[in-house]
Amino acid sequence: MQSGAADALAVVHEHILVCTDCPLHLKRTQAVPGTGPAGARIMAVGEGPGETEDRLGRPFVGAAGNVLTKLLESIGLRRDDIYITNVVKCRPPGNRDPEPAEMEACSHFLDAQIEIIRPDVILILGRHALARLLPGAGGISGLHGSRVVRGDRLYVPLYHPAAALYQGSLMRTLEDDMRKVRGYLDEAEARRRQPLPAAVPEGRAVASASATPPAAPPPPAEPLLRLASDEPDEPAPRLAPPEPDEPALRLGSPDPVEPAPPSEPPGRDQLSLF
Ligand code: URA
Repeated sequence: MQSGAADALAVVHEHILVCTDCPLHLKRTQAVPGTGPAGARIMAVGEGPGETEDRLGRPFVGAAGNVLTKLLESIGLRRDDIYITNVVKCRPPGNRDPEPAEMEACSHFLDAQIEIIRPDVILILGRHALARLLPGAGGISGLHGSRVVRGDRLYVPLYHPAAALYQGSLMRTLEDDMRKVRGYLDEAEARRRQPLPAAVPEGRAVASASATPPAAPPPPAEPLLRLASDEPDEPAPRLAPPEPDEPALRLGSPDPVEPAPPSEPPGRDQLSLF
């Protein structure tokens, strides 16, 4: 079963590595399919590879990756236990935003990765991943840290880890949100451990009075936001109040180390993160 998922994931990776479905393949050094075990309980989805990722072929290995690794470790998770990928698998030149057509062309890969891994929780890193995975749900500043259910999947939108490199105060927000993620995971784990109801032999009474009922699931730590499924003609309810314009920050290439001055408008060659 597990090796079936690993094999299926390996096939998806192979397709990504040779994909030429959108113009991003023309300028890439290599595609960046994703890393982590096929049996991961947590998946993290970012925007797209940056300069370091394009060079090394692995996601989140630059400055933003260091932040992500620290955040995961802060709640006792090992990066290697998490499946990490991006909305687009090839680096947008100059770290520009991925175009809608590029995201669309890459979409089936992410869908396949989610379908194979079936994680308990999908961490959505930044606004581009949010728009791709929860279209119409609202903006990252309203949804970050909340648990959002759509269909049979559980998502937690978070600010992009690179945002904390530019705006120090967001590191605190990210840390707080990660603590919530820990709570969500603990609940998911508790649910998974619940004993299954005993099988009823054919032709027998439905329930025996002495049967022990399964333990009740723990109460949710935070209210669940349930979003409508993605019916094309049914707009999802808006959960967050209209967003103020999110600051568009861009990561330069190579990865930045200096925070941008707060009063400066973002430069054109920076990667938008929120
Ligand atoms: N930013 C992303 O969104 N993804 C990466 O892989 C690296 C930086």
